[in-house]
Amino acid sequence: MRIYLSRPDITEKEIEAVCAVLRSPDLSLGPKLVEFELSFAKYIGTKRAVAVNSGTSGLFLCMLALGISHGDEVITCPFTFIASATSIMMAGAKPVFADIDPVSLNIDPAKIESKITNRTKAILPVEVFGNPTGLDKVCSIAQKYHLNVIEDSCEALGSALNGKKVGTFGTMSVFGFYPNKQITTGEGGMILTDDDNLADICVSLRNQGRALKRPKTQDPRLKTNESWLLHDRLGYNFRLSDINCALGIVQLSRIEQTKAKRRQVAQWYREMLADDDRLIVPVEPDDCDISWFVFVVRLANRFSPQQRDRILQAMKNTDIQVGNYFPPVHLQPFMVERFGYKCGDFPIAESVSERTIALPFYNNLTKDQIATVCRTLRKVLDSVCCIS
Ligand SMILES: Cc1ncc(COP(=O)(O)O)c(C=O)c1O
Repeated sequence: MRIYLSRPDITEKEIEAVCAVLRSPDLSLGPKLVEFELSFAKYIGTKRAVAVNSGTSGLFLCMLALGISHGDEVITCPFTFIASATSIMMAGAKPVFADIDPVSLNIDPAKIESKITNRTKAILPVEVFGNPTGLDKVCSIAQKYHLNVIEDSCEALGSALNGKKVGTFGTMSVFGFYPNKQITTGEGGMILTDDDNLADICVSLRNQGRALKRPKTQDPRLKTNESWLLHDRLGYNFRLSDINCALGIVQLSRIEQTKAKRRQVAQWYREMLADDDRLIVPVEPDDCDISWFVFVVRLANRFSPQQRDRILQAMKNTDIQVGNYFPPVHLQPFMVERFGYKCGDFPIAESVSERTIALPFYNNLTKDQIATVCRTLRKVLDSVCCIS
């Protein structure tokens, strides 16, 4: 039987909540939007939360709200999902990469300062696979150079560093709700900040640049008193419907249970794979409370990238879905073409990404399924080791 890489965890409660919105007249910009934003801000501990239709649009709006545009640079991680970097480019700015820490797989704080120029406007750290390691150090550097921090927290809902929740470190932070995430709204994202002005700009930007409040003096040529048809700025339709928000509210109410289930899955994997010296298995540092997003093991350095690819294929042949999170961002074809990045620019990110195997990981994965995955992986490793 197929074992999937990820599966959402949707209960009757979520289905009922979505159906209740469908029976109401408020499918968008209604009470569920307000409720989702308030409960999310309360859970994370920020003053404001602004719901949007994806993590990517959330990151893009952070760039715009912070005035990041053409000619600016934002320092980020080369080992992440593509949107961490493309959201910078969407605003017209350049993603400048600093190599990663080989253990946490997050941007290495020690490599950031040498990348700062007079064009640098912000640092965008990512809690890769949910791990918040190094976030505090990134923030100290940003403070020293008066830079904003945009936390890409899309993979880390519920994680904390030294008891401080992810999403509260940056000037702004963004979570994502694609179905493989800790909570899902189908598609969706949330921008968090303590800054009312930045939040208000995002509220306007996500809704066609609409005016938040009617201006005191209104040009009579507009011939309307409706703020609905007044537009303050170039905006977008990045709204999240009340249908999505209703789903998100129930999912968020179960976050601690979700965290515990995923922690158990990670624990079973660790117990079953820890003794295999062909694999590097992720650990949870003492100062971190990781809300597990995925379970990514790495092959020991003696394995070649070709061997990794053969292992991925062999696993897929047995109907166990696996992934290669993440190919290095700077080596994506359009990045190479646009910025001239090349192999060897960020050797740790490149070496790690050539050896990763993302194993099936979701709330309701059973111990038996995990045992099947681990047994199959060991067999595949045996065979790849034999023929190489
Ligand atoms: C680190 C990171 N950043 C950004 C995103 C983008 O989120 P979305 O897919 O909701 O646009 C994701 C989601 O996959 C992600 O993992």
